[in-house]
Amino acid sequence: MLLEGKVALITGSGRGIGRAMAMTFAREGADIAVNDVNLEAAEETAEEIRGLGRKAIAVKADVGDPEEVEVMVARTIGGLGGVHILVNNAGIVDQGVPTVESSVERWDEVLRVILRGTYLCCRSAGKWMVQQRTGKIVNIGSVAGLTGLAPRPAYVPAKGAVIDLTHTLAVEWAPYGINVNCITPGFCLTPLSEEAFKRAGADLAKVGQNIPMGRLALPQDIADAALFLVSDGAKYITGVTLPVDGGWLVYRQLPKG
Ligand SMILES: NC(=O)c1ccc[n+]([C@@H]2O[C@H](COP(=O)([O-])OP(=O)(O)OC[C@H]3O[C@@H](n4cnc5c(N)ncnc54)[C@H](O)[C@@H]3O)[C@@H](O)[C@H]2O)c1
Repeated sequence: MLLEGKVALITGSGRGIGRAMAMTFAREGADIAVNDVNLEAAEETAEEIRGLGRKAIAVKADVGDPEEVEVMVARTIGGLGGVHILVNNAGIVDQGVPTVESSVERWDEVLRVILRGTYLCCRSAGKWMVQQRTGKIVNIGSVAGLTGLAPRPAYVPAKGAVIDLTHTLAVEWAPYGINVNCITPGFCLTPLSEEAFKRAGADLAKVGQNIPMGRLALPQDIADAALFLVSDGAKYITGVTLPVDGGWLVYRQLPKG
């Protein structure tokens, strides 16, 4: 098992990609702090992990709130014995309306959850990691943060900034044995994307046509990449952005006919 004796805190792991990472890390021997704003969903994931014979706690906290984040990290360390792994996964999206119609409140909220949330969790768990001189952090960005996907005036720059934050923390914390990396998923089949596609009127079945591998990602595809980055096999990797997108980012095709 790759993660025996490790404790992982995964934000937003009540459902979707976060839940898949929590289950995958637990199957590899890690104990898990399951965070979500939705406590019921977090409890469900935690219960499933306990069914695998691992320890798990469900922690309700809003990652954008500094006090709640401090309590969440303290509960993880107090309840499970440390925070060797942090995955910043919690995220929300824009309204999906043209930018000129978008609300400032939603813009602030997307930045607050994605960027401020990632910063706050890194800052809080980072204190323990710096003291212990060990740690693995994976930030979940998005291919959106590397492109001009529209209309997403908050999500795209928030995810771009998460990549930038990954760079600076990787440099600052490398001397402490802490690896900080970013995964940028492509289109992945989760409740979040299903809701976003529905709002945008996009045809889910057609999304695969623009992906060289011919299908959307499954949460397990992202979880498998995250497992590699938090495992010992990735010990000399820090500051990287790893797209897990079935080739979407590099896809360019001349029009047919
Ligand atoms: N699904 C995709 O296509 C896709 C693509 C690229 C990147 N991502 C990113 O992957 C991550 C997970 O996405 P998903 O599709 O699994 O989403 P999801 O909505 O299915 O799951 C996200 C979870 O985060 C929780 N959450 C939301 N705000 C929170 C907060 N303030 N504090 C704590 N928890 C909070 C939600 O309750 C939910 O359980 C997000 O950061 C998302 O931006 C997703």
